[in-house]
Amino acid sequence: MAETFQKVTPIFVLILFTIFTLAIIPATAEKNHRFSRTLSPAKLGLKREKLSHLHFYFHDIVAGRNPTAVRVAEALMTNTSSTFFGAVVMIDDPLTMRPEPNSRMVGRAQGLYASASQTELGLLMVLNFAFMEGKYNGSTLSVLGRNTVFSPVREFPIIGGSGLFRFARGYAHARTHVFNLTSGDAVVEYNVYVFHY
Ligand SMILES: *[C@@H]1O[C@H](CO)[C@@H](O)[C@H](O)[C@H]1NC(C)=O
Ligand SMILES: *[C@@H]1O[C@H](CO)[C@@H](O)[C@H](O)[C@H]1NC(C)=O
Ligand SMILES: *[C@@H]1O[C@H](CO)[C@@H](O)[C@H](O)[C@H]1NC(C)=O
Repeated sequence: MAETFQKVTPIFVLILFTIFTLAIIPATAEKNHRFSRTLSPAKLGLKREKLSHLHFYFHDIVAGRNPTAVRVAEALMTNTSSTFFGAVVMIDDPLTMRPEPNSRMVGRAQGLYASASQTELGLLMVLNFAFMEGKYNGSTLSVLGRNTVFSPVREFPIIGGSGLFRFARGYAHARTHVFNLTSGDAVVEYNVYVFHY
């Protein structure tokens, strides 16, 4: 009886020790890897919030040998729908300073638009403006909005940004500058207003 007890005790202690250590290690590890904390904006280098106005032209080229907007998906009924409902178009459209296509490039609009209305030409716009002009080079703004393309002015929410546009919020006004009815190519004037730091 005593012999068995002597044999069992060290094993029992070892098991207890293991259980105890396994419980302690994650607890200390979690202390060093905090999930959340409160931070003052100054600690992140954020000073005063400012309002910026950006003005540029968006070139949506659907025809010719080098299109910047291509249809990547559609529904069976898309081509028989008066609004091309279900068409999804991926874009990498140049953004320029002036309306002429060969004017100075300030960035690109990258993302997609899709026909989301069955009763009018209403697009879902999901894209990023990737800027390359001056201090904005490398910074982006994200757009998520509804584009009724035949309205004189369309407004899209700016829902965020990166780089100089961290914490961005605002809106964009889009006005068709030129629409070529034959090719479908369009030049759209953009006025973007954003709050950022
Ligand atoms: C719909 O029309 C587009 C553009 O003309 C064409 O590329 C596509 O093949 C057509 N799709 C169907 C399913 O007919
Ligand atoms: C923008 O930044 C990229 C990468 O840092 C650089 O290669 C490019 O020359 C810059 N463009 C302009 C217009 O400053
Ligand atoms: C419209 O597109 C057609 C076909 O690509 C082209 O021949 C014509 O020159 C364009 N019109 C204008 C005003 O750019």
